[in-house]
Amino acid sequence: MKIEKILIAGAGTMGYSMAQIFARYGYKVTMYDVSDKALSNARQRIFENMTTLAEEGEITPEVKDHIIDSLAYTTDKQAFADCDLVVESIIENLDIKKSFYAEISKIVRKDSILATNTSGLSINALASAVCGPERFIGMHWFNPSHLILLIEIIKGDATTDEVAKTIRDLALSIDKKPVTVEKDVPGFVANRIQFAVLRESLDLVEKGVISMEDVDSVMKYGLGFRYACLGPLEVADFGGLDTFHHISEYLMKDLCASPDVPKLLADHFDKGELGVKTGKGFYDYSGDKAVKATESRDEKLLAVYRALYK
Ligand SMILES: NC(=O)c1ccc[n+]([C@@H]2O[C@H](COP(=O)([O-])OP(=O)(O)OC[C@H]3O[C@@H](n4cnc5c(N)ncnc54)[C@H](O)[C@@H]3O)[C@@H](O)[C@H]2O)c1
Repeated sequence: MKIEKILIAGAGTMGYSMAQIFARYGYKVTMYDVSDKALSNARQRIFENMTTLAEEGEITPEVKDHIIDSLAYTTDKQAFADCDLVVESIIENLDIKKSFYAEISKIVRKDSILATNTSGLSINALASAVCGPERFIGMHWFNPSHLILLIEIIKGDATTDEVAKTIRDLALSIDKKPVTVEKDVPGFVANRIQFAVLRESLDLVEKGVISMEDVDSVMKYGLGFRYACLGPLEVADFGGLDTFHHISEYLMKDLCASPDVPKLLADHFDKGELGVKTGKGFYDYSGDKAVKATESRDEKLLAVYRALYK
């Protein structure tokens, strides 16, 4: 299955970012959205990003122009009729995504692949709306997608191995690090691990074992720092499986196993304190703190990316 023409549906935070990556690697990309404003914002952000990359010498002015010129933007659904792959990144809502697929999967060619960037909606539930569910698959990117190498490829019950291989090869062709999730489980794999860490962290803070700042430090300066180089199974191998076995015997039963939304998370949610975007979450992001925190995050991610992968 040869992928040349890619249609990105949804020109929001993830959509425009994925589009510019595919375009940079020579794919012919069209962005589709129901909103003209979203498309013009996407066009503007891609222009600014490519201009910055050209100024920093990461790409030549010719490549910059080529990327900008090779992208098309449309609100016309007929654009789906001639593409090899749709990467859907519209709003995270099961009903809206299902009605999108019910309509679009009848417009695309029978051999076009349909991939969803859903963060965690069931691939099988979405596939039930797709005409030809065997060509439907999850392709889960991570934000900011120009720096995070991981892409989870999630097979639904009907997805063929050929489709999964095509999407895996596509991810490799844009220098990403794909992993294949063989079964459609809630949260796939990365979010299951992320939420297991979050549940334990918030439980320890709530019980007064550690402060919020210090639990974040445990990850930033200890575990997370090491996880950038070694996965949890590799860490165990280096630590010694006898030691990890002994620790498991007394520790596993003491870890938080609550099925509920963690209380501290629910408390902030109920007060409308949603994090960086509202100026307050677990921490304070009022005034210019949100901009500074975002800049600091991006600088550090870029430094790690350059240190390990450039
Ligand atoms: N933001 C993240 O960190 C992140 C990370 C990984 C995956 N995702 C997933 O990516 C998808 C998009 O997330 P986002 O953060 O880019 O959202 P966003 O709100 O920034 O963008 C969504 C876009 O979809 C458009 N849209 C809504 N309904 C549509 C429809 N019926 N047809 C076409 N376009 C439609 C909106 O106009 C908007 O431009 C979601 O499924 C989300 O879960 C997000």
